[in-house]
Amino acid sequence: MKNLILDVDTGIDDAFALLFAARHPEINLLGVTCVDGNTSLPKVIKNTMKVLDAAGAKAIPVAAGATRPLIDEPRYAEMVHGEDGLGDLGTPDSQRALDSRPAVILLRDLIEESSAPVTLVPLAPLTNIALFLRSFPETAKKVERIVLMGGSAAGGNATATAEFNVWHDPEAAAIVFNSGVPITMYGLDVFMKPLVTQKHADALMAKPEACSQFAGKLISNFIKQMGPEVTLGDYGAVLTALKPELSTRESLALVVDTTFGPNRGQTAVDRRSFFERDDAHTHAPRVDVCLDIQTDVYRELWLETIQG
Ligand code: RIB
Ligand code: CA
Repeated sequence: MKNLILDVDTGIDDAFALLFAARHPEINLLGVTCVDGNTSLPKVIKNTMKVLDAAGAKAIPVAAGATRPLIDEPRYAEMVHGEDGLGDLGTPDSQRALDSRPAVILLRDLIEESSAPVTLVPLAPLTNIALFLRSFPETAKKVERIVLMGGSAAGGNATATAEFNVWHDPEAAAIVFNSGVPITMYGLDVFMKPLVTQKHADALMAKPEACSQFAGKLISNFIKQMGPEVTLGDYGAVLTALKPELSTRESLALVVDTTFGPNRGQTAVDRRSFFERDDAHTHAPRVDVCLDIQTDVYRELWLETIQG
């Protein structure tokens, strides 16, 4: 079993990740922390609870985290995820209760209480994770690894050079990448590879199980918003945490651009090998950067687990 804690800004692809993490037999989902990102924190919380209901998940603790980035104003992605942040499916609100602890306290408690190593899987802006690392450095040392969806070795989506999660809160990302905790970066270089189409949505909606129906509707609404092929997105980071052997990773020096210029939020990854030079990357932290994945296996494992 793999002990995971997910940090989410649910979002359609966060939902794909939550459905998988809640249902996969080798994953022990210890808890979920919510953060402002794709949409506002209250909507993220509401969406997260709805997805756990659809997954048929047991009573997993869900905590509220940061309501905005450390420095910048919130900038939402409702053009991708819809007005409610979950594809505007109109599913009923959950009856689940929010954990009374704030996200950083839930993170501390779950890690301290776990008898086995815990992997953090942030799928959103890194505000909660940065605040946790700064608040509880001794507990942070017990984190086995952070496998995060964010950044890229080349190119952006929020801007020409920055990926949305890092762009939303660059200072938080810099704190996390420089924390000393082992990090795997599941970035845009692989994020767009596991794609699904209306054919997959129709097959899921033809199943009687609530989880399959929900997943099929999510894909259908995503396709209406984004086009005929949509990515399983954040889910890929969860599978990379569970089965790293299905990805190709390289340990590379990385610097987050926290300046206020055109590349703010870029994860500048150093892929030079020809000579050492004394510059910003010489003493920068090294991160395991995902450069390729077994795309078909990623897609099929998700479909199997959702319909399982
Ligand atoms: O850039 C992709 C990331 O931004 C994903 O986590 C998606 O959910 C959005 O938050
Ligand atoms: Ca996300």
